[in-house]
Amino acid sequence: MTREDASGMREAGDLHAPAHAPHGSELHSHGDFAPLFVGARRRELDELLTRYPTKMATLLPALWMVQQERGWVSDAAMAEVAAALDLTPAYVKGVVTFYTMYHQHPVGKYFIQVCTTSPCNVCGAEDVVDALLRHTGCQELGQTSADGKYTVIEVECLGACGFATPIMINEEFIESVTPENVAGLLAGRS
Ligand code: FES
Repeated sequence: MTREDASGMREAGDLHAPAHAPHGSELHSHGDFAPLFVGARRRELDELLTRYPTKMATLLPALWMVQQERGWVSDAAMAEVAAALDLTPAYVKGVVTFYTMYHQHPVGKYFIQVCTTSPCNVCGAEDVVDALLRHTGCQELGQTSADGKYTVIEVECLGACGFATPIMINEEFIESVTPENVAGLLAGRS
């Protein structure tokens, strides 16, 4: 289990993941993987299993539990989920790698997705990307800022083509972003 300190950072497991944010790293990189599905989390998974017709059907929410707790889904976590749901690690990995919302490596506390598909692109999405990289300190797309706060990526259509440029900061959806209002959107995110 992880514990929170006064700053909201987790003591074990996450470098940059406060309890409310699904972004950080995991205590596993040197074989010290701490199983997630023990105690209350195991009971949560067991309760989840009662709501689905098969164990396999519980895979997506089980992976989401991992990501919410650990910030990303490591190979070790995939193996744990596979064992809990009687699946193979390869099957679980296939699902994790199919859905882009699952992180396969640690990301910043604020994970920012920017639509750069054609309709948004012609409305200036690239300038929004440039502003986000500049204001977050991220060196390039997909790279986490040195302070661990931000990761910015490009994504395909976010379904708000009439409100270019839409972005998502974690689960928050924000429309009509311009280079000029990027700083304001990031202000106050500690
Ligand atoms: S093309 Fe950007 S939201 Fe659809």
